[in-house]
Amino acid sequence: MTRIAILISGSGSNMAALLDDMAGPDHPARPVLVLSNRPEAAGVTKAQARGIPTEVVDHRKFPKDRKGFDAALQAVLTRYAVEFVCLAGFMRIFTPDFVTAWSGRMLNIHPSLLPRHKGLETHAKALAAGDRDHGCTVHAVTPDLDSGPILGQARLTVHADDTAQSLAARVLELEHRLYPAVLRRVLAGDHSLLELS
Ligand code: GRF
Repeated sequence: MTRIAILISGSGSNMAALLDDMAGPDHPARPVLVLSNRPEAAGVTKAQARGIPTEVVDHRKFPKDRKGFDAALQAVLTRYAVEFVCLAGFMRIFTPDFVTAWSGRMLNIHPSLLPRHKGLETHAKALAAGDRDHGCTVHAVTPDLDSGPILGQARLTVHADDTAQSLAARVLELEHRLYPAVLRRVLAGDHSLLELS
């Protein structure tokens, strides 16, 4: 069973979707750790309620020291013998060395149809661009932000009355379906593109 860590910064709804799926008897992985960079992240409490070990590495203790922060993360991941990392709303940017160390063993979910709308405020960007389609992407993590190989995408049609908030809510539902499905495929060695709608 592959030992998985889920890294979070916020509410942890994608984390919960992954944990729900991993709770199934046929899943090839088990969650050994939820790691947050924010002690107050709601996802930490959610993970604890499910009996999953949690750790916090507070990035504010590493001002202007991304290398030191990444080293602290790595130390925790090593302590839990983590084999695979899922980023789920983890809002820190890694050093290239950290990413390289996890090459092929780290996924991220991003709330847009990459390569469109990298970075933050993706729903507002999709509206501002007049996009007819929007959605989310699960990709392998590489040193360039939101640019790794795309493994899965889920798509919706933008409505005339959509706001950034309504899009965020609808995309989040897609995220919760897409991420567990892609994780299962990747762990089975399938890196072909999964498309949901
Ligand atoms: C998700 O939309 C994720 O794609 C983005 O941040 C949000 C995190 O939500 N990077 P949650 O913490 O999983 O609820």
